[in-house]
Amino acid sequence: MSTVSAPLDIETLRADFPILGQEVRDGVPLVYLDNAATSQRPRQVIDAVADCYRRDYANVHRSLHTLAERSDELFEGAREKVRAFMGAETPEEIIFTGGTTAAINTVARSFGDATLGPGDEILLTEMEHHSNLVPWQQLAERTGATVRYLPVTDDARLDLDALDRLLTERTRLVAVTVVSNVTGVINPVEEIIRRAHDAGAVVLLDGAQGVPHLPTDVAALGCDFLAFSGHKMLGPSGVGVLYGRRELLERMPPFLGGGSMIRRVTLEGFRPADLPQKLEAGTPPIVPAIGLGAAVDYLNSVGLDAIAEREGRLTRRAHEVLESTDGVRILGPSPEHKTGIVSFVFTSGRPHPHDVAQLVDRHGVAIRAGHHCAMPLHARFGLSATARASFYFYNTLEEVEKLGEALEATRRVLTRRK
Ligand SMILES: Cc1ncc(COP(=O)(O)O)c(C=O)c1O
Repeated sequence: MSTVSAPLDIETLRADFPILGQEVRDGVPLVYLDNAATSQRPRQVIDAVADCYRRDYANVHRSLHTLAERSDELFEGAREKVRAFMGAETPEEIIFTGGTTAAINTVARSFGDATLGPGDEILLTEMEHHSNLVPWQQLAERTGATVRYLPVTDDARLDLDALDRLLTERTRLVAVTVVSNVTGVINPVEEIIRRAHDAGAVVLLDGAQGVPHLPTDVAALGCDFLAFSGHKMLGPSGVGVLYGRRELLERMPPFLGGGSMIRRVTLEGFRPADLPQKLEAGTPPIVPAIGLGAAVDYLNSVGLDAIAEREGRLTRRAHEVLESTDGVRILGPSPEHKTGIVSFVFTSGRPHPHDVAQLVDRHGVAIRAGHHCAMPLHARFGLSATARASFYFYNTLEEVEKLGEALEATRRVLTRRK
């Protein structure tokens, strides 16, 4: 997927991220390895947000005064940046939402309610985040549709052999994640889209863990919908994106009603606005979207190919380090199938992932423990929780070594307690 890029100047890049330079306690530098939960922000994004509030802030699409014009320009400018970043044809195909969860719920409520009925099928996979499971289960409850699941193999990859059996003439929608938030597995979404389209189904991609880490081109992919969050790609929290093919978005009834999404309202009823406002009821996440535009600029300046390559190097080293730690088992396949996410357990069950996360935090190492909003995937492997280290391009090989040292110390504490 990626071409060979010049190595990144990590020290210079890290200097852009004020939060990364701190000591979490005296003499204990922060090692931030929880990027799949949320990334950190460079000063360029922080400045874009602060500058807007200091200088340009007003509501959008309403007023004619100077600040309103500036805000409109910045907000619509951000939409254009996001459009170009993901290869969408028109800015009307970019809907600003509260995040991935809100984007997926918009499709389920609007497209789903208008399109699905009893006996129709929705195809998901066993590795989805709850955000790409629950809205479809709710849709099935409302409409009488059935949810089916593409299984995962023992090495936590999608079992594509089952696709032909599960894609039927009743499949209306396939919703699949680009990258698993638990294992980092990169799914063959191009093939899934092709086969789903051959079966007449519409495809939604959950890009929450894909868009921040891999080059994305919706036109080349041919996906119908793509959802992702700003906060996982250097942007502010509170903003996400729903990309939809224009033809589908045009046919979707507005999901939320209110200001901005109308052309005309009378006491008898309303006429919806054109895209994208039709699906952006109320005051949108103005400043978070402007911050997301700055994040897109930053990611473009680093280069998505270089980011993917860099994370590959960190992940390969993380596998080596974890595989050489006694008693650790990594969930999922080898690094060439993954982005920078490594979830693991101690095979004896002790220490529990929550204890691991707490104990490595003493060394300044921030990782996450739990089910990572993917209970079904954990159940598939007989687990209720894993510990997860997740990287972004600004992490260093030294930080991977620190994770290894902190884990080794954790293991020793456990051995002493026995
Ligand atoms: C794969 C995946 N999908 C969806 C989400 C939900 O994103 P948000 O909480 O930003 O709506 C996440 C967040 O962790 C995720 O990793």
